[in-house]
Amino acid sequence: MKKLLSILLTCAITVSGVAQTTNAKMDGFIKQLLSKMTLDEKIGQLNLQGGWDDANESSKAAYMQKVKSGEIGGSFNIPNPEKNARALQDIAMQSRLKIPVLVGGDVVQGYKTIFPIPLAETMSWDIEGMQRSTAITANEASSQGIAWTFAPMIDISRDPRWGRVSEGVGEDPYLGSLIAAARVKGFQGTDYLKNQNMMACMKHFAMYGAPEAGKDYTGMDMSKRIMYDVYLKTYKAAVDAGVGSVMSSFNDVQGVPSSGNKWLLTDLLRKQWGFKGMVISDYTSIEEMKNHGVAATDAEAAALSMNAGMDMDMISEFFQKNLKQLVQSGKVNEKELDRAAYNVLAAKYKLGLFENPYRYSDTQRAAKDILSEEHLQHALKIAQESIVLLKNNNHLLPLKQTGTVALIGPFAKTEDVQNIGATNASRSPNIYEELTSQLKGKATVLYAKGANISENDMLMERIYQQKDVRSAEALKEEAINIAKQADVIIAVMGEHGGMTGEAASMADIQLQENQRDLLMELKKLNKPIVLVVKNGRPLIIDWENENMDAIIDCWYLGTKEAEAVVNTLLGKFNPSGKLTMTFPRNAGQIPVYYAHNNSSRPEQDGNKYTSKYLDVSSTPLFPFGYGLSYTSFEYSAITLSATTLDSKGKITASVTVKNNGTYDGDEIVQLYIQDVVGSIKRPVKELKGFKKISLKTGASQTVTFTITEEMLRFYNNELQFKSEPGKFNVFIGTDSNTKNVAEFELK
Ligand code: BGC
Repeated sequence: MKKLLSILLTCAITVSGVAQTTNAKMDGFIKQLLSKMTLDEKIGQLNLQGGWDDANESSKAAYMQKVKSGEIGGSFNIPNPEKNARALQDIAMQSRLKIPVLVGGDVVQGYKTIFPIPLAETMSWDIEGMQRSTAITANEASSQGIAWTFAPMIDISRDPRWGRVSEGVGEDPYLGSLIAAARVKGFQGTDYLKNQNMMACMKHFAMYGAPEAGKDYTGMDMSKRIMYDVYLKTYKAAVDAGVGSVMSSFNDVQGVPSSGNKWLLTDLLRKQWGFKGMVISDYTSIEEMKNHGVAATDAEAAALSMNAGMDMDMISEFFQKNLKQLVQSGKVNEKELDRAAYNVLAAKYKLGLFENPYRYSDTQRAAKDILSEEHLQHALKIAQESIVLLKNNNHLLPLKQTGTVALIGPFAKTEDVQNIGATNASRSPNIYEELTSQLKGKATVLYAKGANISENDMLMERIYQQKDVRSAEALKEEAINIAKQADVIIAVMGEHGGMTGEAASMADIQLQENQRDLLMELKKLNKPIVLVVKNGRPLIIDWENENMDAIIDCWYLGTKEAEAVVNTLLGKFNPSGKLTMTFPRNAGQIPVYYAHNNSSRPEQDGNKYTSKYLDVSSTPLFPFGYGLSYTSFEYSAITLSATTLDSKGKITASVTVKNNGTYDGDEIVQLYIQDVVGSIKRPVKELKGFKKISLKTGASQTVTFTITEEMLRFYNNELQFKSEPGKFNVFIGTDSNTKNVAEFELK
């Protein structure tokens, strides 16, 4: 035992010793390189450019010429990286100083093995599983020349109208922080040089997920306290996990655009949080500071950004075109330029590119790893875990595998896999194909499209979709006729991928009217209907919840989507996903999230002058943490080990959970805490822990959470992170609505 300990200790000392020598070695190497670089060469390193048109020889040649003359330090989303990343390094090796190019990309939810969209994956609450997805993503992309990903996106958002909630971590900072750290660790691994990993880039720093009215590219006015207590937590978690790079956001923070915000990029990120990596701007956000109205000229925008702490300029070429003059005129100190160039070169060094610029182009490994059975198995596992069962009346699901099934809807037979960012996905079976194949010889599957994605012409044009050549009436009629022949109807409805993601805000997040119309007609047939929802955001499906027999939310699940959905419909998988964003009943309720503050007049039935709407309920349609299973779980009351806690102590809170249904199943047991009286208002409850357990039918398990003083801290108005003595409520249950409560006091 002693011997083992001493070996471990020696290892630890050696590893940190190696890290120190590497740092010193790197520092020496970069400083020497910088001393040889001209002003132009340093500025060139800060220029981050998108790809070229691979079919257009002259566009490619012009790009390559810039690389050769040292005018481009980083390239992203290049066409066919498996061949062009190598070509780029070839040219870079012909530049005067032979500095390799940093090749990056939006590798967000997989490279060829595509995982669920990030928001969907969060519904699994499977932190290790999400880490594994990013590790596989890194493994595949890093064999194709891509050493750097513009992910994870970890913007907390509480407004489902914003299209980019699909890329994020949901509404909760505690869960979001665990996911942020896991995704960073997955992408980066423990050592870049193992050639299986890539550098991560957390985005979009900061508060990009809180746009006013859910409209992309707007801003918000937010107190520093709410930033610290909610929105900054995920970014801090990523920094603590060692994220290599940071992308600034398009929005402003307290009036100053992030890309020129010194408080954000230098004081907070570097000085307070100790971040040592590289900061890049989002797309043309340096240029956009002119639109924000904080810079009158290109040069002013470049100076503002450089002086705030920006290292790389994505796309605008404002650094490229203005920095030399700015340094020569003294408006930017050359030290700032050296700092930025240092950070870019350090990233390249850490990734091992100086040693071997081609290390990320490994065709042999690509052939072995990409879309390997192991990767696909994980894609299936996490896709299944991401599905949320929202309703299941009379145990309609899992489906009986006999008779005739009518599969209806615009997304039942769609060809493409939803994929944010670079589109490398390979063709996967659609739900129709998968269902037909799994029910072969047992049941008959009939299909009708039934409706277009939408009859809203403006929307269809904006998402580049065309309507069916048949009229809406003809589509509907065909679907009704098909449904009449069936024992059960499965309607696959929701949003097209183009309706979510960047620049895809929606003011109305109900199901499109024509799709709902079709459901209304189908309902008249008096047959059981399962609604399978495809979406990138919480949708308003209150009518559907009233009128459909079962609802499963499938989001966009990637390569294994159809298999995951059909396995769930047929009961080969028992759903366990839980919502990480609240579903509103009505857009007028937005923002609606579980960790809201109490009202001075909490809603009371029959009392007019309390906080409510006259026309709709205040409660969400489905709360945070909600999700059903084919089985059911019974929770005991909470047992506390003590009812007082002192600052150095701990208490435990336990419940016994019993599977009292007829299927084996998984349950995500959730712990919430409420600080009853504080020096400032505190949320009605906040997630502080969770455990995923598997229970055979009839079995029970006691789940225990440890509560410490540290978990009770929050940012007060002086921005001190402190707990306050007093009464606390602890809740343990199946979702954030749980009333299973116990009380303790912090001394
Ligand atoms: C997005 C980023 C993305 C970048 C590069 C921007 O428009 O906001 O998330 O990484 O484009 O493609």
